[in-house]
Amino acid sequence: MASVHKKKLKIYSGIFGGGLSRSQGKRLLRLCGVILCFILLFSIWSDIFKTLLPTLSRSHFGFKMGNIAPARLLDNETSNVSELSENDNVNDTKMSFQPEDNSATFHEEEQLCRKVGPHYGDNCDFEGDIRVQANSATIYVFKPKQNISKSWNIKPYVRWYAPNVRNWTVKLIGGNDKHKNLIPKCTHNHNDPAILYSMSGYIVNYYHSFSDFLFPLYTVCFGFHRDVHFLASDFVWWLNGKFHEVIESLTRHQVIDIDNENGQVHCYPKIVAGLKNPNLVIEQSEQKYETGASMLNFKKLIRRAYSLPRQKAMESIQGQKPPIPHLLIISRKRTRVLTNEGKISEAANELGFEVVTADPDTLTVSAFAQLVNSCDLMMGIHGAALTNMIFLPDNAVLLQILPFGEIDNFGRLYFGNPTVGMNIRYLEYKITTEESSLSQQYSTDDPVLSDPMSIHKKGWETIYSVYLENQNVTVNLGRFKDTLVQAKNLLS
Ligand SMILES: *[C@@H]1O[C@H](CO)[C@@H](O)[C@H](O)[C@H]1NC(C)=O
Ligand SMILES: *[C@@H]1O[C@H](CO)[C@@H](O)[C@H](O)[C@H]1NC(C)=O
Ligand SMILES: *[C@@H]1O[C@H](CO)[C@@H](O)[C@H](O)[C@H]1NC(C)=O
Ligand SMILES: *[C@@H]1O[C@H](CO)[C@@H](O)[C@H](O)[C@H]1NC(C)=O
Ligand SMILES: *[C@@H]1O[C@H](CO)[C@@H](O)[C@H](O)[C@H]1NC(C)=O
Ligand SMILES: *[C@@H]1O[C@H](CO)[C@@H](O)[C@H](O)[C@H]1NC(C)=O
Repeated sequence: MASVHKKKLKIYSGIFGGGLSRSQGKRLLRLCGVILCFILLFSIWSDIFKTLLPTLSRSHFGFKMGNIAPARLLDNETSNVSELSENDNVNDTKMSFQPEDNSATFHEEEQLCRKVGPHYGDNCDFEGDIRVQANSATIYVFKPKQNISKSWNIKPYVRWYAPNVRNWTVKLIGGNDKHKNLIPKCTHNHNDPAILYSMSGYIVNYYHSFSDFLFPLYTVCFGFHRDVHFLASDFVWWLNGKFHEVIESLTRHQVIDIDNENGQVHCYPKIVAGLKNPNLVIEQSEQKYETGASMLNFKKLIRRAYSLPRQKAMESIQGQKPPIPHLLIISRKRTRVLTNEGKISEAANELGFEVVTADPDTLTVSAFAQLVNSCDLMMGIHGAALTNMIFLPDNAVLLQILPFGEIDNFGRLYFGNPTVGMNIRYLEYKITTEESSLSQQYSTDDPVLSDPMSIHKKGWETIYSVYLENQNVTVNLGRFKDTLVQAKNLLS
């Protein structure tokens, strides 16, 4: 976008360039200022629309503009971990990873484009003469010394089942000069390597922004020391802006909206297509490929990117001694509302916490990061906003309130499991039927209350609408205090 504006500015200074008196010049300048403002506003607006419209029309998974806020978990994976493995029973080699030439027994190449993990996406890694042609969504890998040619269809996203991800083809072209005309000519030569990823799928959801995009991107580009080009397919302008602090700490180059590089062929000495390590943990099986990337190092990077001052919890901020534990209550306003958060706040206060209640939707990522980093305990009902735990200082505590409905498994998968790598402590508070608004919405013998697993059998949409979209929580203060005491003991 920046380049578009620069062009416009140039044109205007060209038109009104010379031959004016001073006052004429001043008036004209003022007028130009106004016109320019309109032009800028208009082009920003139309850019937003250009990016949003295709995204919105493509999203058949129920997003409305207002819901882009970090409130929804709509990944299928959330339905049930074991359910998901059934979905995943598709043959590994069959999914989107389709080697064309099966007769080839070139094991070295098999390793170059592979599926990562049982239900995750494609990840390819090539060095040499790499040419990325935007129009055809093709990556050419020219290997003059080999007499083998082969191609793969890939989706450069960490979850193979993610919707709306542009397909890419990787063409390995071996052999002599007679094949040379099969590969396009470079229009841009780059010395740094490239990483290709999609910004579609689930990443508008705040959890997935980190779990499917930023953290996987970090693990893949670790070691490049920012000397790497990001090629974003399915580019989403505002998401790129929303996380610019993190993206800029991963690359020194401007992100390329690769799908719109019409007629261009970008050439690189190395390319990684597709990311790996979703769910905010580094896959155990993957460790041998890693070169020191870890969640702790990612947290360090995040702390630098947002200038977060506190590395350790309970370190006194303004020389208070002994330090007072600070509690952040994540407030939700529409769904999964904690109806008595005021009472909880009072109770926590009596227990010696300094309490702040905040709704992440009302602040920028950076401002919310500052707030989270100033706290020692963060609590909230299961939901994407808990992803903000990434900004907590080491040794802090995350307390997840699990709503009614047997959704503990994915609550733990998404927010419990990553706490280990983040060096924070994890507590959960599982509510009883009485603490759920569902106990007023349904009779006790309704399957929603008496047999949640029968609701699970109806699929993710139903689970989501019954247990996640239409349930508020009023915690039992007596019972909840025990958990707060537990958190306080962990912190002292
Ligand atoms: C979840 O998986 C089911 C079954 O595989 C599928 O029908 C459904 O469309 C998926 N939902 C989403 C949101 O991906
Ligand atoms: C998976 O693919 C392999 C190799 O093509 C084949 O031998 C195996 O039977 C397949 N398994 C299933 C479950 O389709
Ligand atoms: C590839 O190279 C091998 C060994 O040099 C040779 O036997 C084979 O015929 C070559 N294949 C092609 C298609 O050129
Ligand atoms: C991507 O390729 C798969 C088959 O490999 C196909 O089923 C799917 O429709 C393609 N998606 C798009 C968006 O073209
Ligand atoms: C969810 O996972 C549990 C534990 O593996 C399993 O017992 C249960 O049947 C699963 N639920 C569904 C709906 O598949
Ligand atoms: C939950 O609370 C919100 C805000 O008070 C309210 O709008 C919503 O209707 C409530 N939902 C249920 C299921 O009670």
